[in-house]
Amino acid sequence: MSEVITEKKQTIFSGVQPSGKLTLGNYLGALRNFTLLQEDYNCVYCVVDMHAITVRQDPPTLRRQTLEVLAQYLACGLDPAKSTLFIQSHVPAHAELAWILNCFTMFGEASRMTQFKDKSQRHSDNVNVGLFTYPVLMAADILLYQTDKVPVGVDQKQHVELARNIAQRFNGTFSDTFVIPEPYIPREGAKIMSLQDPLRKMSKSDENANGFILLMDKPEDIMRKCKRAVTDSDTRVVRGEGKDGVNNLITIYALATGKTPEEVEAEFAGRGYGDFKPAVGEAVVELLRPIREKTEDLLRNKDYLESVYHEGAQKAAYQARKTLDKVYRKVGFVQR
Ligand code: TRP
Repeated sequence: MSEVITEKKQTIFSGVQPSGKLTLGNYLGALRNFTLLQEDYNCVYCVVDMHAITVRQDPPTLRRQTLEVLAQYLACGLDPAKSTLFIQSHVPAHAELAWILNCFTMFGEASRMTQFKDKSQRHSDNVNVGLFTYPVLMAADILLYQTDKVPVGVDQKQHVELARNIAQRFNGTFSDTFVIPEPYIPREGAKIMSLQDPLRKMSKSDENANGFILLMDKPEDIMRKCKRAVTDSDTRVVRGEGKDGVNNLITIYALATGKTPEEVEAEFAGRGYGDFKPAVGEAVVELLRPIREKTEDLLRNKDYLESVYHEGAQKAAYQARKTLDKVYRKVGFVQR
């Protein structure tokens, strides 16, 4: 028999909350890379509806947005034949492993999570226990799939660190059970800033809706937001210190058109912001148009969407069950 050496693909896990809408920042910073990653990695992408309810959600909105996020992932080029795409609450192993991991997480270490501190201040009327154990559920998400890499922004790095600590503690108590995951900062991960306050990251939770562009925004809204983007009192379309707004628009225009920042500067040499801002708007409109149209198509095609998340949940549950069975055995539960 001939010897075939196949290197096992590494696993990437990423979760996205359906508690809001996806922005241009999410797309350029992460989502666009995901479609490239699925060629080289075993990718598991999960819509984390269970995380979303740690803050109050309007149920019909949550349901709609869960499907919308899924449709947007597909519209951006994630291929259910290559990646595993599913909804967290459809795979009970997440909740089951989270309980076990709760018993391997120290109260003190969970208390140090900065997002918990932030969120309990922002939602001081609803500081529920779920909000506190949120990072433990996230650790379960990651560890169930023997994940090697977790693409995250800086705000989630501490949570991946916690997942590593929990995994090491469990492995150390029993024997190797979990792969120790690493945060993965994508090479090309562009950081897109708010159009209204270019020192802050573009975020859907910005009170000022002109600060962010949603993937589903209508062309006229995109144009308006770009034209109103905050710039500076200089007029040159060049990158520079103190020109945060312009730097950001150059990044956006470059990524939307596939040009380098230098090419963008050359293209607008001798022309002012009055020319540049509408050009950025048009480039973003054209970038997002096919994604928006594809998403709308998919949302009309409920049967297809359903087949995607059914199959995704099946694939995910199979992997998750393997890990969970091991864990149950190690902690001493009687086999059912
Ligand atoms: N906490 C993440 C966020 O708000 C979402 C998330 C849940 C996640 N589970 C995950 C991200 C697992 C990466 C891996 O952005």
